[in-house]
Amino acid sequence: MDIASRPSEPAENAQLAPELGNTAPPPVAATVIRREDYQPPAWLVPEVALDFRLGLDASHIVARLSVVRNPAGSGESTLRLNGDQIAPLAVRVDGREVNDWRLDGSDLVVELTGDAHAVEVETAVNPAANSQLMGLYASGGMLCTQCEAEGFRRITFFPDRPDVLSTYTVRMSGEKAQFPILLANGNCTASGEADDGTHWAEWHDPWPKPSYLFALVAGNLTANSARFETMGGRQVALNIWVRPGDEDRTQHAMNSLINSMKWDEETFGREYDLDLFNIVAVSDYNMGAMENKGLNIFNTRYVLADPDTATDGDYDAVEGVIGHEYFHNWSGNRVTCRDWFQLSLKEGFTVLRDQLFSADMGSEAVKRIEDVRILRVGQFPEDSGPLAHPIRPDSYEEISNFYTATVYNKGAEVIRMMRTMAGVERFRKGTDLYFDRHDGEAATCEDFVRAIEDGAGLDLAQFRLWYSQAGTPQVCAEVAHSGTQVVLKLTQTVPATPGQPDKQAMPIPLRVALFDRATGTHSGERLIVLDQDSQTFTFDGFAAPPVLSINRGFSAPVAIDFAREKADLVFLAAHDDDPFARYEAMQGLVLQHLVAGVSGRLDDAARAEGQAAIGEALGAIIADPAIDDLMRGELMILPAESYIAEQLPVSDPGLIHAEREALKAWLGRALAEPLKALHDRACAVPYSREAAARGARKIKTQALVLIAAGDPAEGAARAFAQYRAADTMTDRQGALMVLCNLDAPERETALADFHDRYRDNALVLDKWFSLQAGALNPKVLEHIAALAQHPDFTMTNPNRVRALYMAAAVNPRAFHDESGAGYRMIGDLIRRLDPINAQTAARFVPSLGRWRRVEPVRAAMMRAELERIAALPGLSRDVREQVSKSLG
Ligand code: PHE
Ligand code: ZN
Repeated sequence: MDIASRPSEPAENAQLAPELGNTAPPPVAATVIRREDYQPPAWLVPEVALDFRLGLDASHIVARLSVVRNPAGSGESTLRLNGDQIAPLAVRVDGREVNDWRLDGSDLVVELTGDAHAVEVETAVNPAANSQLMGLYASGGMLCTQCEAEGFRRITFFPDRPDVLSTYTVRMSGEKAQFPILLANGNCTASGEADDGTHWAEWHDPWPKPSYLFALVAGNLTANSARFETMGGRQVALNIWVRPGDEDRTQHAMNSLINSMKWDEETFGREYDLDLFNIVAVSDYNMGAMENKGLNIFNTRYVLADPDTATDGDYDAVEGVIGHEYFHNWSGNRVTCRDWFQLSLKEGFTVLRDQLFSADMGSEAVKRIEDVRILRVGQFPEDSGPLAHPIRPDSYEEISNFYTATVYNKGAEVIRMMRTMAGVERFRKGTDLYFDRHDGEAATCEDFVRAIEDGAGLDLAQFRLWYSQAGTPQVCAEVAHSGTQVVLKLTQTVPATPGQPDKQAMPIPLRVALFDRATGTHSGERLIVLDQDSQTFTFDGFAAPPVLSINRGFSAPVAIDFAREKADLVFLAAHDDDPFARYEAMQGLVLQHLVAGVSGRLDDAARAEGQAAIGEALGAIIADPAIDDLMRGELMILPAESYIAEQLPVSDPGLIHAEREALKAWLGRALAEPLKALHDRACAVPYSREAAARGARKIKTQALVLIAAGDPAEGAARAFAQYRAADTMTDRQGALMVLCNLDAPERETALADFHDRYRDNALVLDKWFSLQAGALNPKVLEHIAALAQHPDFTMTNPNRVRALYMAAAVNPRAFHDESGAGYRMIGDLIRRLDPINAQTAARFVPSLGRWRRVEPVRAAMMRAELERIAALPGLSRDVREQVSKSLG
């Protein structure tokens, strides 16, 4: 094992961390980039020719750029090429070596005299030492690239901005034994062998693209191959490239790819545009996957799946991410972003597209619930904290910090609202117009809104505020009934966020229905748009006060504040015909109870009454034959602790945890018999990939969670039996998760067995780490400390780091331990990881950044941890930006 994967002691000073070649970032002055400062590029680069001589610890690159003065640019004769951690070995202009170039910071600056030149730059990099995993790096003996957002400048000097579009020709050569497969964007146009053991390949991508979409892969790979015929009759060769031995786990990814291609033709009229589509799976990867033109690069976890090693959730994630990256071919690649402030143009839209795809492939209702849960757990806290930003940010220091739940998931919700207001058909006219109008361009969010406006025939003047205002709107609802009339009064407030003290009212589309208590039905849903601070809507024909169902399907990404009777929530949980609203009623019932509990507003009688209502509703859900098991599993999940915390301005994580666990235990006891019956029934369903069997596996583990909460001995016995009998990772992981929460001997036995069985499978070992780090076990902090010393732990593999520490950071039992040890653990991690992988390190800062929302004793410790990080010299721009905003 190399030095990089076994860091020595937790370094007190980041400067003392292991030397990792070109990876330690130099000190950088805080520079704020502003959206309003956008200037078109002075020079364009219509063509690029790259020549790579590949080696794991030394790769040599010659870049030949044809540059032309941009008629729409400033006219300046200075050519500025961005670089990062690289030095020019030679610079040639029009074939002649020049010496009058200079470095301005890390940029290469060359003075040019004419309107068009050929500029050639030579650079060299050490991929094996590149632990930041940006630019050209080595992973498990292969070479690959990651260029979004600003990684291309770590390979060669270039105007590394998304509005400079070029056609790329790539030549690469390397040892044939080491790199038998050579891939780049587009099509392979020539290849050959030399007699010194090297071989070479030439690739050409006919579609102009920005540098962030460039990709290259070289290594020992094997493909699962298939063909796809597009609606226009083009024959496309599909390959999913993996390390030899992994090919048996690629079929689900291949099916997902084929389904994505078909779906995008049918749903958005988008056809694939090359003869070849390659996907490569890489073990060391900062993110999920990347949409490089014709050569998507994936984190292995979103490619590899078989029943023995991947859960049903993993299967869904593979399908979703394969779809997401494929859909980027149009929403991102054919139409790209003018600048990084427009990131949501491609990401928000593409997330919406992948959500709609997954909904069509499986259960629309369950998918919607999952997406809303992700939004509430991941985006709402971001929107109400120190890092809040609009889906189109106004400024940034490090763009990597803006690949956020806000840009992605809230971005998707904003476009979904347009779709809801326009209706599916008119929305499609809008997206057709968008693709038509901007094909081949680097566009803006404003371009997108205008295309939807023109194509769908909507007035989105006021709606544009969703792009510029941060913060989750709060909508307060009041219902009055008199005679036969119902008056619904709605009031909105958009909370202040950093840099945005005052907000304007935004258009909020709300799907509403009014239920008749006696019949349990309603006479039609209405879409109302709240676009003022306060507004009333009237409904006629109600002899008795109805029950309001509002924000059905989660038609707007807002928080609804509506004082409801428990009985009404129980009614909606049982009768609402909108599955999301039904889920929402159940969540509301539990949330109301838990929030009252942590606020000290529950006396014994009120507690008993609340428990009884929840128990009754959950009992009905368990028993209802009309609900399918996938949905039932969804309805059985209690609101997350972070979402409970969101309901309160300041809260005590210890109290929230205790209240939620107490309710789980009460439910486990009160519903012991039906839960055991449910578990037994689910255990009897044989394996298949069909929805019914997946639903059975889902409720199996949900039932187990509650059974174990109510009766730990019974839970341990059942979990161990489920573990033993498991023929899928879904059952095995579910059982192990429940065992990890318990201080039972079965825990050790099962963990040892699991490790033994999967010691050679990195993705499954990740589960082994995260199940332990995420456990609600009283000794969890000890366990995490021991795992950090485990021979299988490494700081250089982001999946492994996240498996241990992200699981710990979102585990209230570990992170919010009253000793403060959890905060110290994450603080130490950030300080040690920053010099190795700044992007990944920065992703841990927001958990500490929530200190203002936490009770004062813990808040002081969280803040102190941030201050300790801030005091370190040589922090990366990534971590520094997040820490200084969090302290701000
Ligand atoms: N653009 C990628 C996606 O959303 C995400 C990504 C960003 C990957 C930056 C790597 C680096 O599909
Ligand atoms: Zn994306």
